[in-house]
Amino acid sequence: MRLARLMKVFVTRRIPPEGRAALAQAADCEVEEWDSDEPIPSKELERRVVGAHGLLCLLSDRVDKGLLDAAGANLKVISTLSVGVDHLALDEIKKRGIRVGYTPDVLTDATAELAVSLLLTTCRRLPEAMEEVKNGGWTSWKPLWMCGYGLTQSTVGIVGLGRIGQAIARRLNPFGVQRFLYTGRQPKPQEAAEFQAEFVPIDQLAAESDFIVVACSLTPATKGLCNRDFFQKMKKTAVFVNISRGDVVNQDDLYQALASGQIAAAGLDVTTPEPLPTNHPLLTLKNCVILPHIGSATYRTRNTMSLLAANNLLAGLRGQPMPSELKL
Ligand code: NDP
Ligand code: DGY
Repeated sequence: MRLARLMKVFVTRRIPPEGRAALAQAADCEVEEWDSDEPIPSKELERRVVGAHGLLCLLSDRVDKGLLDAAGANLKVISTLSVGVDHLALDEIKKRGIRVGYTPDVLTDATAELAVSLLLTTCRRLPEAMEEVKNGGWTSWKPLWMCGYGLTQSTVGIVGLGRIGQAIARRLNPFGVQRFLYTGRQPKPQEAAEFQAEFVPIDQLAAESDFIVVACSLTPATKGLCNRDFFQKMKKTAVFVNISRGDVVNQDDLYQALASGQIAAAGLDVTTPEPLPTNHPLLTLKNCVILPHIGSATYRTRNTMSLLAANNLLAGLRGQPMPSELKL
């Protein structure tokens, strides 16, 4: 009896247990992994991916032409443990007929929850307030000390009313938000109806919002979208939150806007680069809260993402419909 040839799979990181177990049980695959919590160096990845039929990667792995060339003609499926796909050279991937799996929906709730946490943490100045308790700055209850901005009767602007943008609006609505604005490629009346959100040009969103939450995907059109012009249009009392990708924001312009009092505060879950160097100027500002890209970081969500990524990969390799395939 002839034995069927095993398909070679390379996994670029130690992934959560459910995804790992699904791959381990795949009798038709030979799975190799970078058995570490730290990223694989790019040269090592180029070496290890040679001849692979399937690649399971993370948002920190850059899958560009060089890597695709290194992998060679066997490569049929790329499965990313993320909903964001800006780290993948999609044009090159499409040209080569490679299928792509990703992880939408399963992380929407966790990410929206984090976005709301970051917004509240930023607008109510929680890190500063906690620091004051520790450093003796808390001398008495004082009428205007540690005041911030609240959501009641506010206008919230959402850049990108996609899955996560909607989930954020759904969570903010009960806080008494008066008006939702959103921007994107086109109006989405059905999705917007739930929040009576108004589709407006980005300049109007910048000028009229008390809180701005960026939840769009990173594309050539959104790269640097939040720049000097954008921050100059914002209210001095407005709070800016970004949970999408660091490159949507021009960080030098954001620093100027925060340092000069052009805007009140910013909360960022994503930066450029990641990790942000510990001597970065943004980290010197009291009115800037920075988190280490933890939007989807709940145990359950990360496990579910890993299982979905594994199942996408296996289905793609077997020529079956993937549970979540990116349309190229
Ligand atoms: P969706 O595809 O559902 O939403 C993407 C949104 O981006 C859409 O509303 C789309 O607008 C909008 N968009 C695209 N182009 C533009 C543009 N030129 N101007 C304004 N808006 C634009 O994706 P998700 O909601 O699932 O995820 C969104 C992003 O969030 C991901 O791509 C990822 O980068 C990031 N993310 C971050 C996480 C974190 O840990 N911080 C966790 C998960 C995701 P339109 O509706 O008009 O097409
Ligand atoms: C994504 O999925 O794109 C996030 O950034 C991490 O969950």
